[in-house]
Amino acid sequence: MKISKIKFKNNSADYAILIGSGAIKLLKKQIYTICPNTKKIAIIFDRKIPLKLKNKIKNQLANYKLYIYQFEVSEKLKSFKNVYRLNEDLLKKNFNRNDTIIAVGGGVIGDFTGFVASILKRGINFINLPSTLLSQVDASVGGKTGINSREGKNLIGTFYQPKLVLSDTDFLKSLPEREIICGFAEILKHSLIFDKKFFFWIEKNIKKIIIDKDPSAINFAISKSCKIKISFVIDDEKEKGKRAILNFGHTFAHGIEATTNFSNKINHGEAVLVGMFLATKISKLKKLCSSSTLNKIENLYKKNNLPSSLKKYSLNNKINKITGYMRQDKKNTDSKISLILLKNIGKTTKPGTIKMSTKKINSLIRKVI
Ligand SMILES: NC(=O)c1ccc[n+]([C@@H]2O[C@H](COP(=O)([O-])OP(=O)(O)OC[C@H]3O[C@@H](n4cnc5c(N)ncnc54)[C@H](O)[C@@H]3O)[C@@H](O)[C@H]2O)c1
Repeated sequence: MKISKIKFKNNSADYAILIGSGAIKLLKKQIYTICPNTKKIAIIFDRKIPLKLKNKIKNQLANYKLYIYQFEVSEKLKSFKNVYRLNEDLLKKNFNRNDTIIAVGGGVIGDFTGFVASILKRGINFINLPSTLLSQVDASVGGKTGINSREGKNLIGTFYQPKLVLSDTDFLKSLPEREIICGFAEILKHSLIFDKKFFFWIEKNIKKIIIDKDPSAINFAISKSCKIKISFVIDDEKEKGKRAILNFGHTFAHGIEATTNFSNKINHGEAVLVGMFLATKISKLKKLCSSSTLNKIENLYKKNNLPSSLKKYSLNNKINKITGYMRQDKKNTDSKISLILLKNIGKTTKPGTIKMSTKKINSLIRKVI
């Protein structure tokens, strides 16, 4: 199977994202080249990674002093307590800047491990092996690390780029369908905000991604998504400008998830799908996009039974709560809520040009649901 290579290169980082079935086989050689002075390696595994893949990774690294950590994954892992414990343990083992920490898991493991790597001795080598579709198309790209606070998700963190990302699509074989949908939401977002042709490709290939987990279709979708995400973050790592376009649908999703207290009732990807649909309907209502744009997107949702409605999650009577949480999003800098809306498939409004009060958004949501 072909391994695709994408480069992330700007003033602060220069690393490769290698994508494809069997990509983890390249780990040993890659470490040898990019972290030649490494003697100790800590691997932070999501416990759910299949044993066979864990062994494939460990066996390659037999020449290093290897320390294995395994975690039960939930948002609770992303806490100061766990960061402190892992830091203390690695310091006790004398990890220094030449040594390497490898994350093997989804966005939770990646965010947590990246944060630890970024603060340990002010930054040690970090390699990410994302194991969920969401982390392969989104969380592993862009250098955001983070943990949660009592005040909200991802409120504490750093910008810290990895030395390497290996997105092995074999990880996805054991991933539940609900998690595949979660990653698909971000793939769809990338097409909607940037690439009409990619949207048409998705229309034709969606079943190959969600149902068949077809390696070649998935490889293409991941590569395309990474390229699009990189194009938004490469010159705006710290989210001062166009990176905000990646928030399309996410401001609504944040309000929706917070209203359910980030419970399993609706997961992040489902909330993003509902959020993007709401954003598109509001775009149409505000005459920013045409009926034909809305129809194309609505057809894709309907044909493939993608979550689109607040009603399905009994959230249609909680709109005030949703917009209240949207207002608290850390990306808002004044009392109004910044939104990214859709002008066409592949084109959004510019960041900072659409700002609305919670009252206005309340009334718009009520009109479109
Ligand atoms: N840093 C960023 O830019 C960024 C972007 C988006 C999301 N995130 C963060 O990512 C997290 C969500 O990431 P996620 O969707 O990958 O979820 P996750 O890490 O919680 O993983 C989802 C579930 O899949 C399981 N899992 C992981 N890999 C598996 C595999 N190969 N086989 C079977 N099960 C597996 C996990 O144990 C978990 O139960 C959130 O904390 C979010 O804040 C970060």
